[in-house]
This record gives sequence, C-alpha cells and structure tokens, in this order.
Amino acid sequence: MFRLPEDKCVINRYGFNSEGHKAVESRLRQRIKRFLYKHAREDQEQTMEKLKHGQSSTESLVDHLSTNRSLRDDRLLAVNLGKNKASTPESVDDYVVGVERLGPYADVLVVNVSSPNTPGLRSLQRKGMLEDLLRQVITARDQLQSSYKPPLLVKIAPDLSDEELEDVSAAALATKVDGIIISNTTISRPSSLINKENAQQVGGLSGPVVKPLALRALREVYKHTEGKIPLVGCGGISTGEDALEYARAGASMVQLYSSMAYEGPGIVRAVKDDIVKGLNGRKWMDIIGEDARK
Ligand SMILES: Cc1cc2nc3c(=O)[nH]c(=O)nc-3n(C[C@H](O)[C@H](O)[C@H](O)COP(=O)(O)O)c2cc1C
Repeated sequence: MFRLPEDKCVINRYGFNSEGHKAVESRLRQRIKRFLYKHAREDQEQTMEKLKHGQSSTESLVDHLSTNRSLRDDRLLAVNLGKNKASTPESVDDYVVGVERLGPYADVLVVNVSSPNTPGLRSLQRKGMLEDLLRQVITARDQLQSSYKPPLLVKIAPDLSDEELEDVSAAALATKVDGIIISNTTISRPSSLINKENAQQVGGLSGPVVKPLALRALREVYKHTEGKIPLVGCGGISTGEDALEYARAGASMVQLYSSMAYEGPGIVRAVKDDIVKGLNGRKWMDIIGEDARK
C-alpha cells in the first residue's frame, strides 16, 4: 500500500490478503457467542449450554440475536466477497461458497467484481458473466436457512465504459440485485495527481481523484436504473459536501475509506454533521437523484 500524501490518495495492491473463509467465519461466530453470553437472559440458559458445548448451528446462533448482526441496533455489518487468485477466471464458486458460509453472519453481502488486484476478477463485470454470477449468488442467498436473508449488493469499478455501465444496469435490473456500490478503486492515473512517483505503483488508486470517475459512473447507472435500485456512492468522500454530491447524483447511501486513513475515524462524525448543515432542513431522501431531474 502506497500513500500519495499530497493528493490524499492511496494505491493498494493487497490482492485479498485474507486468511480465508474459515478464519473469518470463526471470528464472526466468536463475536456473536461473546455477545450472547454477555446479554443472556435466564430463559436462554439452555441455549447457553448448547453454545458452550458447540452444539449450536450457525442458524440457531444468529437467530438468537435480537439486534443486527453488527451487534448494534443502528449499524450494519457488511461482508465483502472476492475470489481467489488461483481460481479459474470464469468460476463463480468462491462467491457462492462465500454467501453460504458468511451470509448467515452478515446484515449485508457485497459481491466485489471490481478489485484490480486479482487477475480476471473484473472481467466478471461483463454482460453475460455478471448476470450469471448474480443469479447464482442470489440463489445461494435465498437458500440460506436463517430467517433473515441479507440484501446482496454488487460493487463495480469506476473504469467501465458507458456501454459496460448500461450492461451492468441491465443485469442488476434483470436479477433484482438489492443494490450497486459505485465505486471501487481505479486503475487509471488521472493527470491531476501531484505525486508522480508513487503514482507509478501498480494497484488500485483511491481518494479524491476517484470522485469524478465514480460520480460519472453513478450518474450513468442512475439514468439506466431510473431509481429502481438503491445505489451506494463511494470514492474520494472526505466532506459532507462530497457526500451530498453523491446523493444529488443518485446515491441512497455513501461509503468512505481513504479519507479515514488520512484523517482517522473522527472523519465520519465530521462528514455527518456537515451533511446535516448542507441539507439545510431537507432530508437526504429528498435530494437523491436531484441532478437527473434538472
Ligand atoms: C487499502 C485498501 C483496501 C481495499 N480493499 C477492498 C476490498 O477488499 N474490497 C472492496 O470492495 N474494496 C476495497 N477497497 C476499495 C474501497 O472500499 C473503496 O471502494 C475505494 O477505496 C474508493 O473509496 P475512497 O476513495 O473513499 O477510498 C480497498 C481500498 C483500500 C484503500
């Protein structure tokens, strides 16, 4: 991971340096178990006994929760799924297994077909392939045993052409996916970058220079999906005004990453306070897609 401090940008080529499904699953289980122990009521003694002896299945474990899987009433835990470098480029099995194994612990699932650091991964954004992938992961999600079926979002790159964005929109509408996150990092290197040295590093670029690219992609998808699918704006957000720009372009929600690396977690509070000021008495819901209606 390389910082471009003059640009407040980051280039990363982590390539999913995760310990894998099983390790992640075990951590997600442990935190739920700890939570249930801490908040156990007397009438749940039997459940606790089962938990202690490891007899509780995933489903019964999460179905005991009286709050979100984030373990907070006002927060969502999203699990972001990628695929292994060693899997064949067209295979979608890793995503399906990801939904089956980690879906039960997630408030929201994200299918990431836009990380630039896994060869072949981004080609899953292509027309026929994306629709097939989405159908398979949605089926796996619908077959989860637990009563709660997490909404499933797909996350795309800011580098897609207008034609590719139209195909993504069509696939999203056809499969009834629950949302689209726009966008991931870019493989482009905008000429506006000040730090030319680190800009040469291979990897995905994030931070303020991604904002125009992500906004363009989001506007395009909003146009094609006509507000029928919630869009999540992401890329270069560090102020409330950045977030509101995404809302006016069509975003129901926003996310940020790089600005947290530079400013720390307090950035979230600052952005939220700024949003309230910028809305000037209006509601976020009132301004979603405002630009497209002008
Ligand atoms: C170090 C780093 C790791 C990332 N890992 C992932 C990932 O595993 N999955 C994913 O969908 N996006 C990943 N992203 C992309 C971010 O979630 C986000 O989409 C992108 O950085 C643009 O937003 P930003 O400009 O606010 O950082 C990563 C970004 C960075 C900087």
